[in-house]
Amino acid sequence: MKRTVFAASLLLSTLFAIAQERTFIDPGGIWPDDKGNHIQAHGGGIIKIGKTYYWYGEERRQGLDREYRYVSCYASKDLMNWKYQGDALKQADPENLGQRWVLERPKVFYNKKTKNYVMYFHLDDAKYAYARVGVAVSKKPQGPFRYVKSFRPLDKESRDIGQFIDDDGTPYLVFESRPTKGFYIAGLSDDYMDVVKEVSFIHAPLEGGAIVHYKGLYYSIGSAMTGWKPNPNKYATSPSLSGPWTEFKDIAPPATNTYSSQSTMLIKVEGTKSTTIIYMGDMWKPSTQWDSRYLWMPVEIGDGKLWLPEPKKFKINVKTGEWGLSE
Ligand code: GAL
Repeated sequence: MKRTVFAASLLLSTLFAIAQERTFIDPGGIWPDDKGNHIQAHGGGIIKIGKTYYWYGEERRQGLDREYRYVSCYASKDLMNWKYQGDALKQADPENLGQRWVLERPKVFYNKKTKNYVMYFHLDDAKYAYARVGVAVSKKPQGPFRYVKSFRPLDKESRDIGQFIDDDGTPYLVFESRPTKGFYIAGLSDDYMDVVKEVSFIHAPLEGGAIVHYKGLYYSIGSAMTGWKPNPNKYATSPSLSGPWTEFKDIAPPATNTYSSQSTMLIKVEGTKSTTIIYMGDMWKPSTQWDSRYLWMPVEIGDGKLWLPEPKKFKINVKTGEWGLSE
């Protein structure tokens, strides 16, 4: 009897889990994780290890202890259903920056040689004057990450950061530097713990920098510096990461302010049939940060052009690389 009840409840919970499966991405909508909570991974970045995608970002759920800053980690095999892995980093003010210190835009790289997960983030004080990156490491993707140090990459002021992993696996840190009015693409040391090489300086005052390599061209996108308010994000291309980069052009009709979003990453989904590039943006809600949304949408890309079409619910097949509208 007990066994039958057990089997029945197992069946029910399996059915429930299947019913919960998300079969689409809804740009700008509430995005529930496996526990039904809106995903907290703002200003995020994604890496793929084996068949699993890990999404890291600013954890801004309500009721957090204000002494700490939190970086969340989510895991997915299909980019649509995300399992909450907990706080990958729970960090107290590491450099005496004061109560309103800032940890933003975490990005994680996996180093195959050291088997370390290396997290970079924007570390700052309330005035955004410290302008450094912080580095934390972990042996596991979901953490716990241990804070190691902070520094100014290439001795430059660094605020918004982005990450780019080239097709050959080489990691780059993208960082915005205000005094020189532009953003850097920089190479990391062998152990990924330092930023050692200026690969490119793109002379455009843009932040939220993201890069993708597609059919022989590098595409870089970024947003203007308007704080939490959205603006028309732009893109440029180059045959090589080190430039020369073209002029920047709009990625969407400027009046939409990038459909009210700000760039954080471009994900490349290379499948057996097709390659899809997804624009990943944040729709910030400064006074209710926990409710900030994500605007993901496959872009039209190729021959030096990149365009973000009007966002609509879509589905993606990470095996074939194909995507389609869901309704
Ligand atoms: C934005 C930046 C965000 C955050 C915000 C604070 O420009 O992209 O990451 O720093 O400003 O106002």
